[in-house]
Amino acid sequence: MNYRHAFHAGNHADVLKHLTLARLIALIARKETPFAYLDSHAGVGLYDLRGDQASRTGEWLDGIGRLWQAEQPPAALGDYLGVVRALNPDGELRHYPGSPELARRLSREQDRLQLNEKHPEDGELLKDNMRRDRRVAVHRGEGWHVPRALLPTREKRVLLLIDPPFEQPDDFERCVQALDEAHGRMRQAIVMIWYPIKDRRQLKRFYQRLEASAAPKLLRAELYVHSPDDAERLTGSGLAISNPPWGLEDELRELLPWLAETLTQSEGGWTLDWLIAER
Ligand SMILES: C[S@@+](CC[C@H](N)C(=O)[O-])C[C@H]1O[C@@H](n2cnc3c(N)ncnc32)[C@H](O)[C@@H]1O
Repeated sequence: MNYRHAFHAGNHADVLKHLTLARLIALIARKETPFAYLDSHAGVGLYDLRGDQASRTGEWLDGIGRLWQAEQPPAALGDYLGVVRALNPDGELRHYPGSPELARRLSREQDRLQLNEKHPEDGELLKDNMRRDRRVAVHRGEGWHVPRALLPTREKRVLLLIDPPFEQPDDFERCVQALDEAHGRMRQAIVMIWYPIKDRRQLKRFYQRLEASAAPKLLRAELYVHSPDDAERLTGSGLAISNPPWGLEDELRELLPWLAETLTQSEGGWTLDWLIAER
């Protein structure tokens, strides 16, 4: 396990994933009934953008760094940016929330968080970062076992984030397997898979597998900061979201053009469509 998310925290891919996560939670929280948030590959939860690892790549400067300086960001970014602001009360951007901290701050008293991180050091840091919140349970096991181990939840509503490092060639396949397992156990689960946009041929196979998955509905949102035909680097990233709550598609359709313009590095772009329309 070589991957450490601290090198990439707050980059354009994190921005897409985290602002969508924030919107998902806001839409789910419109109803009083509790929900469970599950994170199979959770990372450490909180990042120091001025620390050694994040500073070495400086990726965040072209991600959250640009949003931080935006004069009039769209209102729908309010919850996400609100959490970043709360972590940096003196106005200098230094601390950045990973998905666990974002979900922790945006969820309510009645909600529950189950986080999983396998890396020994990162698992320890996550545990430490979450220790003061009794709604949070931290697991240190295999992320791919999360749907089998934790679903169904006692809460009728669940949001599962699947965000592996994509270091292994079969990570794409395993994401689809995990999606199928999640829907086999809770058909109504909302599952969000994050994926990198690099190798178009590999992605084509991934889309075909997703289209054949057990998800009742599946929305795809992608954001590019370089031309998607450039196979040498991370040109952008995507999200496959099953059972998205009502309203998310419209919000993303408004947000993605602004994000593509704000975060573009050489050639920005976005797509939003259904891999599975309602069956
Ligand atoms: C992309 S990062 C997660 C970032 C986090 N979800 C966020 O948005 O803040 C992927 C994480 O998965 C962890 N990881 C790698 N292989 C794993 C496995 N087999 N099971 C669980 N976690 C794993 C890595 O240590 C890393 O922290």
